[in-house]
Amino acid sequence: MILVTGATGNVGRHVLDLLIEDGHEVRALTRDPQRSVWPAEADVVAGDLSDAVSLEAALAGVDTVFLFAAPGSGPGFVAAAERAGVRKVVLLSSGAVDDAAEVQDGPIAAYHAEVEQALRASGLEWTFLRPDSFAANTLMWAGQTRSGDVVRGAYAGAASAPVHEADIAAVAALALTRDGHGGRVYELTGPESLTHADQARILGEAIGRPIEYAELPVEAVRRAMSAHVPGPVLDGILKVWSETVGRIAPTTTDIEKVTGRPARSYRDWVLDHAAAF
Ligand SMILES: NC(=O)c1ccc[n+]([C@@H]2O[C@H](COP(=O)([O-])OP(=O)(O)OC[C@H]3O[C@@H](n4cnc5c(N)ncnc54)[C@H](OP(=O)(O)O)[C@@H]3O)[C@@H](O)[C@H]2O)c1
Repeated sequence: MILVTGATGNVGRHVLDLLIEDGHEVRALTRDPQRSVWPAEADVVAGDLSDAVSLEAALAGVDTVFLFAAPGSGPGFVAAAERAGVRKVVLLSSGAVDDAAEVQDGPIAAYHAEVEQALRASGLEWTFLRPDSFAANTLMWAGQTRSGDVVRGAYAGAASAPVHEADIAAVAALALTRDGHGGRVYELTGPESLTHADQARILGEAIGRPIEYAELPVEAVRRAMSAHVPGPVLDGILKVWSETVGRIAPTTTDIEKVTGRPARSYRDWVLDHAAAF
């Protein structure tokens, strides 16, 4: 049995579908089963990664786990997984984690690195997936593109190599179900470095009307985003954006190496989500 945590998330819901398509027995963990529609094949359990009691029930009979890195959950998860006899864990970590840093730069890198560390120190077989920015982050522009042709946000020149959630899920599904991925760290990126302004332009080209990125002062963006994003995480996001202006985001071929197919482009991602925009 494979347990998929974060099963309602951008990546987790694809992982669940891929495992079912491939004929595996799957259990899905969510804090609120009523909030989603589930595939009939999934055994859906209510639970929270920070609640040891709910984890014990969720892990009963499970040998493999797709793990969402809930902040602070690493040691509790490892203890529960080892008690339950879990063998293998594939962690959805973050490209922000820096192996060379003595202290991780910012809270996002720090809490993912803590979960990685708990797994490294365990007897479990682990694989870490470290994606760059999700292409899906630009879904936050959908309200603006539905009502106009301008996307307003911070740092037009902030660069990343945005990655399609389906590619992350494809790597995860293979790492979960095939041999040879234990102890591997995959840095998952899209195929090219794009700025926010590039992404808005490509989005417009893909949906058939020009979309422009208008840069707002960072404090205005901080005020708007603080309604949805916790303060320290928001500081971390804005810091990364400011530091990547004028840089080329590094790209890797890890998606192709694992799946045998090149990473999907940002344009591919927009075409898959065009209805939202
Ligand atoms: N967005 C990016 O650009 C990016 C880049 C690199 C790495 N990442 C990392 O990728 C992961 C997923 O990000 P996302 O933006 O895709 O998130 P998301 O789609 O919002 O998914 C979050 C998922 O985690 C589950 N979850 C949250 N807290 C939980 C808890 N305490 N116990 C159990 N389940 C919990 C939620 O499930 P329920 O609500 O159903 O319980 C949901 O399925 C995060 O760790 C993020 O830091 C994101």
